[in-house]
Amino acid sequence: MTIIVTGGAGFIGSNFIFHMLQAHPDYRIICLDKLTYAGNLSTLESVMDNPRFRFVKADICDRGAVFGLFGEEKPDIVVNFAAESHVDRSIEEPGIFLQTNIMGTATLMDACREFGVKRYHQVSTDEVYGDLPLDRPDLFFTETTPLHTSSPYSSSKASADLLVLAYYRTYGLPVSISRCSNNYGPYHFPEKLIPLMIINALDDKALPVYGEGLNVRDWLYVEDHCKAIDLIIHSGRVGEVYNVGGHNEMKNIDIVKIICRELGKPESLITYVKDRKGHDMRYAIDPTKIHSELGWLPETSFSDGIKKTIKWYLDNEDWWKPIVSGEYKNYYEKMYGNRK
Ligand code: NAD
Ligand code: TYD
Repeated sequence: MTIIVTGGAGFIGSNFIFHMLQAHPDYRIICLDKLTYAGNLSTLESVMDNPRFRFVKADICDRGAVFGLFGEEKPDIVVNFAAESHVDRSIEEPGIFLQTNIMGTATLMDACREFGVKRYHQVSTDEVYGDLPLDRPDLFFTETTPLHTSSPYSSSKASADLLVLAYYRTYGLPVSISRCSNNYGPYHFPEKLIPLMIINALDDKALPVYGEGLNVRDWLYVEDHCKAIDLIIHSGRVGEVYNVGGHNEMKNIDIVKIICRELGKPESLITYVKDRKGHDMRYAIDPTKIHSELGWLPETSFSDGIKKTIKWYLDNEDWWKPIVSGEYKNYYEKMYGNRK
């Protein structure tokens, strides 16, 4: 079995590659990644010499490169993680989100059709459903909840999902889609809430909480997401969408307080800053379908997962120090410098 994993030098894709190489000792994994600011070759260092692994630097929008690689490798399965993934960046610069997330998806699926790929899996997000009100804790996103996006990021992911389902209906391409809630864990780029707060707290820097910090996200340890995708590509039904989430809803402010407590840092570091434009209030996944059809359940509780994650950042300064001392500094200054 040969699997092409796009975006495998990023957070979830790299964790997926580690999981697949270990869980399936006879599979070959080819990572195709453009190495944008979010992609990091050092993340894949431990598998670079593995004879069952190959890294190829390319853009999923580059038809020539994508078709060339598919022709060479004749993959059985393609799992697409490659995306521009940060909501705040999409608010500043939507164009690249449309290009990578929509056009890149179409290019990959065209190559799948050309080379008879047996399964194309699209890694999507719960953000395609928009948000839920805080005063209706009884409401959850199911696979039939209408798409209702808020940001250029979520709109580009929803557009891609619609294209994937259109390729299934029009061309019979064997596709599947997973829509997962917020992930956390090792190799998470420090622009996102949890790693940003850990790294700032370690440095005794301000912890910038947007608005009042009351927004709710449904957090899942990254390994549980990887296991869900592994199940879907092998046993999930073609043409179907599977929601992935662990019923672990938490307010942003509570997450930041937990990080302070775990690191022994004072809550006085918390600084409330101007809210994100169009900020979604609450995400909450109903994972009944993947549980009843495929038997998936999350294995890592938030209290264990956050401890493991914090320990990983403490043990792996070599991974994140070069990131935060490079171009990230300009990003941080631009996004947080004058944010009152
Ligand atoms: P990430 O930003 O950490 O990684 C994205 C990877 O894609 C990087 O390695 C980057 O170099 C690569 N990439 C970007 N543009 C590319 C292009 N044009 N061609 C080839 N490679 C390109 O993202 P992530 O958090 O690992 O998310 C992976 C996927 O999972 C995304 O599709 C995202 O929408 C989805 N998702 C993320 C979360 C989450 O909480 N992070 C939750 C649900 C779904
Ligand atoms: P983020 O990690 O960007 O994920 P998403 O927007 O895709 O859910 O943000 C998670 C939540 O944390 C979101 O409600 C925005 C908030 N947030 C802050 O309060 N401060 C920050 O510095 C960041 C990056 C996020």
